[in-house]
This record gives sequence, C-alpha cells and structure tokens, in this order.
Amino acid sequence: MLNIAVFASGRGSNLEALHRSLTARAAAARIVAVISNNSGSGALAFARANGIPALHLSRQRFDDDASFNTAMLGVLRAHATDLVVLAGYMKKLDASVVAAYRGRIINVHPALLPKYGGEGMYGMRVHEAVVAAGDAVSGATVHLVDEEYDRGRILLQDIVTVAPGETPESLAAKVLNVEHRILPEVVTMFAEGRIGL
Ligand code: GRF
Repeated sequence: MLNIAVFASGRGSNLEALHRSLTARAAAARIVAVISNNSGSGALAFARANGIPALHLSRQRFDDDASFNTAMLGVLRAHATDLVVLAGYMKKLDASVVAAYRGRIINVHPALLPKYGGEGMYGMRVHEAVVAAGDAVSGATVHLVDEEYDRGRILLQDIVTVAPGETPESLAAKVLNVEHRILPEVVTMFAEGRIGL
C-alpha cells in the first residue's frame, strides 16, 4: 500500500481528482495526509470532509526555518509517507525535505515544461504567457521535484490546443482537466511499481 502525502495551498481540485481516482480504481495507494500552508484552503476542507488527516503547516507559526522543516519531516514520517504529491502547493520545499524524499516527490504544473516554468510561473500567469506568446498548444506536466522550481525529470505530459480567441481563463480550464487525469495516472504508476521509488 503506497502512502501518499498531498501538499496543496488552494481549492484542492487536483487533490479531489486524485482521491476520486484512487477510490474508483481501488488502487494500492491511499492519501494518508493533506498538508497546507493555508488554514482556510479548500484542500484542508476536503480532507476533513473525507476523514483524511488535515494539517495546517505554515512557516509563520515557527521561529525559524530549521524548526519548520523539522516539523514537516516529522509529519511525513509520522504518516509513513512513501510518495509526496504537490498539488497546487505555492511554497518551495526545503532542500532537507527534497533530500529525504528524493525521487519520491512529484508536482503537477499547468504547462508543457520546460517552457513556462520556474519561479513565479504559476496559475494564471502561465496561461497568460502561453496566450500572449500565441502558442498553438499547451498542456500539463507531472514531474519529479528537486531543489529547483519545475526542473525535475518529466514523468508525464499531455497537451491541449490553444484555440483562436482562447483566453487565459478558458485555457486554464482545459489544462486543469489534463492535470486531473495525468496526476492520478502517475500516482498509479508509482503504486504499480512502474516508476521506481
Ligand atoms: C493547478 O492549476 C496546478 O497546476 C497548480 O496549482 C493549481 C492547483 O489547483 N500547481 P487545485 O488547488 O488543485 O484546484
């Protein structure tokens, strides 16, 4: 049974899609904890409503980085975490956490990395850049997380067309549908041993 800890800062639609997929597939994987830096996030509300441990973990509540990172590692270990999933988590994991779970942290990004990635490229900013560039296609990427934003090995991507007159908002909706499909697909690949832990 693969124990998954999900980090999310916002509404949690990727968390919800993952939970729905694992439940429907009766996959050998379960979400053992949802961690958010935002106490009012939809992600934490979803976790609570579904009996999943919901943990508000914010740097502001700690005296220094070291104690915050130690607490984060403690939470991951307390839930026997095998795989860390960043599903709309707006903070960068500390190198100590990346080191402890190297090769076992994945992130979903709303663009076709390596394009439109890196610090500051998130949410609507990504779709605005794609539309402004006049690209014909966009999409989503699931990749391994290392010490740099959006730079780890790409595990799965899928594309959407950028239609004439596409707006960043309409593109965001199309890309989100891809995210909701490919993130559970990659988690299932880990659960089935098709990606080595
Ligand atoms: C998604 O667009 C994802 O690509 C990005 O943050 C957003 C999370 O949305 N990392 P949600 O909270 O899963 O609905």
